[in-house]
Amino acid sequence: MMNTSAEAFAPATMANLGVGFDILGLALHEPGDIVRAEMCDQPGVQIVDIEGDGGQLTRDPQKNTAGIAAASTLELIGTSKGVRLTIRKNLPLASGLGSSSASAVAAAVAVNALFGSPLSDKQLLSPSLDGEAAVSGRHADNVAPCLFGGLTLVTGIDADHIRALPIPDSLYLALVTPDVAVPTAMARAVLPPTIPLKTMVLQTAYVAQLVDAIYRGDLATMAHAMEGDQVIEPARAHLMPLLFEMRQISHENGALGLVISGAGPTLCALCNNIETAEKVALAMRLRYDAADIPSVTRCTGISTTGARVLQVT
Ligand code: HSE
Repeated sequence: MMNTSAEAFAPATMANLGVGFDILGLALHEPGDIVRAEMCDQPGVQIVDIEGDGGQLTRDPQKNTAGIAAASTLELIGTSKGVRLTIRKNLPLASGLGSSSASAVAAAVAVNALFGSPLSDKQLLSPSLDGEAAVSGRHADNVAPCLFGGLTLVTGIDADHIRALPIPDSLYLALVTPDVAVPTAMARAVLPPTIPLKTMVLQTAYVAQLVDAIYRGDLATMAHAMEGDQVIEPARAHLMPLLFEMRQISHENGALGLVISGAGPTLCALCNNIETAEKVALAMRLRYDAADIPSVTRCTGISTTGARVLQVT
C-alpha cells in the first residue's frame, strides 16, 4: 500500500564545540524542526506552508533548505512522483543551533519515510547536505549529528568520514540565545584566510586535548580545551553581545566553560549537573535583560538519537 504522508523531527545541534571548527558537532534533545511530506502526482517539490519562521524563509522550493533536501532525496530514490512539504520551524533562525540543517534533515527523512524508507540514514547525508549548502556551505558538523545523533567527529562530507564519539555522562548544557541574528555566511566572512604556524600548533593541541578528554569523560578538561579556540572565537567575538562577560558569569555560577554555539550568537555553557545549568542560564538571561537584549534560555543535553520519523500514514 502506498503511503500518503510522513512526518519527521530533526533536532537542534551545536557545531564546533569551540575549538573544533567544522569538524565537531553534537545533537541536542530539543528543540527541533518538524517536516511533513505528502505524496503528490506532480513531480518535484512544493512548499505548502512554513510555520514559526515569521515569514522570513523563502517558500521557493529551489532555494529553501528543506525544499532542496527533499528534491535531492526524490532524485536519489528515483521516483517520478512529487511531494508537498509543510515545515514547522521550532528553531530560531541564524542563531547557531543548526536551524537550516534541522529543516534539511527533517525533509530528507520525511520524504524517505513517505516512500517506505528505501534509503539508509547514511544515504540521507548527501541530500541533507545539499539543503544545508544553500545556506551555510557544504560542511557536515551540524548535519551529521542532526541525522545520526550524539557527538560526531566529521572529517569529510561522506558517511565514511563521520565518527561517533563517546558521550560524556553528566554533561548539561545551558544555552542562551540573544535576539540578534548572525547569518552563518556573515560569521564565515569575518574569519581570517590564513593563520600563523604558532597559532595552528596551539589550535591543534586544543583539538587533540578535547578529543582525548571526550574519550576519558573528563568534563573539566573538555571545557578547558573548548575555550582554547585561538582562531574562530577571536574573529567572531564582536558579533556576540557580551561574550566575555557571559563567560565570566557562567564560571561564577559554576559552569565549567562557555563557547559560541556554531556560528553564534547562541552561547553554550557546559555544566556537570542540571541545577548548575539552570542557575547559569538564569544568570545569563538576567545579564542580557539588564542590557535590554531579549534572550531565550534552554537547558538540555546531548541526544543519542538524531532525526526520527514521527508518523507515516
Ligand atoms: N562550523 C560552522 C561555522 C557551523 O562555525 O561556521 C555553522 O554552519
